[in-house]
Formats: sequence, structure tokens, C-alpha cells
Amino acid sequence: MHRPIHFTHTRAARAVRLHLLLPLVAGIIGFAPAAQAADAAAGQAKAQMCTVCHGPIGMAVAPETPNLAGQPPGYLTNQLRHYRDGSRKHEVMSIMARTLTDTDIANLAAWFSSIQVEAKAPDAPK
Ligand code: HEC
Repeated sequence: MHRPIHFTHTRAARAVRLHLLLPLVAGIIGFAPAAQAADAAAGQAKAQMCTVCHGPIGMAVAPETPNLAGQPPGYLTNQLRHYRDGSRKHEVMSIMARTLTDTDIANLAAWFSSIQVEAKAPDAPK
């Protein structure tokens, strides 16, 4: 059987579609690319106050504490905002987030998300 292939989508049409989709995708992941250039180095400096629990590279060193390394920036941003506005509560994190500015949060998210994490499945059970 023979199916004709039609190239109906020009490069321009694709560009327009991407252009329309981008803000939507950015909205969904809670991260506006043009809003502000997050500064991972400033985030690392700010993260000094987080290392006692989350570790120097975002791998937790305290019990019951999540790893932050490699998490998506939109997720980290949302969680820190939620702790700050009280929609997510935790006795420590609610206090930690209280003094963070939007810029701090963006920078912290840039820092922790930039840390590369390798996942390895456990050895197969015997
Ligand atoms: C005293 C220990 C401690 C310190 C210091 C601390 N955290 Fe946390 N953090 C925790 C614990 C415990 C949780 C889990 C809280 C919960 O169950 O909601 C947490 C949760 C989080 C989460 C949510 C993670 C997820 O997977 O949902 C983020 C983001 C976070 N911390 C960022 C930070 C940042 C940024 C700092 C420094 C400004 C910081 N934390 C300082 C203990 C700490």
C-alpha cells in the first residue's frame, strides 16, 4: 500500500505554533522564562542556610528531609512559595521560607535544579 506524504507544515507554521505553545507550557510548569534570569550562583550562596538539612549539594543529610538536587525549578519554586504563603505547612520550612524574596526563591530553584543527579536501579533481587 502506498500512502502519499504531504508536507503541509512549513517551518514558519511550526515556529508560530511553538510561539503560541511556549507561554502555555511555561505557565503549566510554573516558570516564566522571560520573567527574570535566575542566578544559580546567588542561589548557592543563599543555600548556605539550607545545607544543615538538605546538604551542600542538595542531597539530604538530616533525617526525614527530601533531596532537592535535580528537582525541576518550577516544582522547587512552587513549594517554596507554598511554604511562604502558608498553603503548605511544615514547622521548619514555613519559617525558612518566610524571609525569602521572589528573587531568592528563583535563585535557589536555579541552584538546586542545576545539580546533576544520577539514578540507578537497585540490583535485581536474587
Ligand atoms: C532544619 C532543617 C531544614 C532546613 C535548615 C531547611 N529545610 Fe527545607 N525541608 C526540611 C524538611 C524536614 C522538609 C520536608 C517538609 C515537609 O514534609 O513538608 C523540607 C522540605 C523542603 C522543600 C520541599 C521539597 C519537596 O520535595 O517537596 C524545599 C523546596 C525546601 N525544603 C527548600 C529549602 C531551602 C531552599 C532551605 C534554605 C533556605 C531549606 N529548605 C532549609 C528541612 C529543612
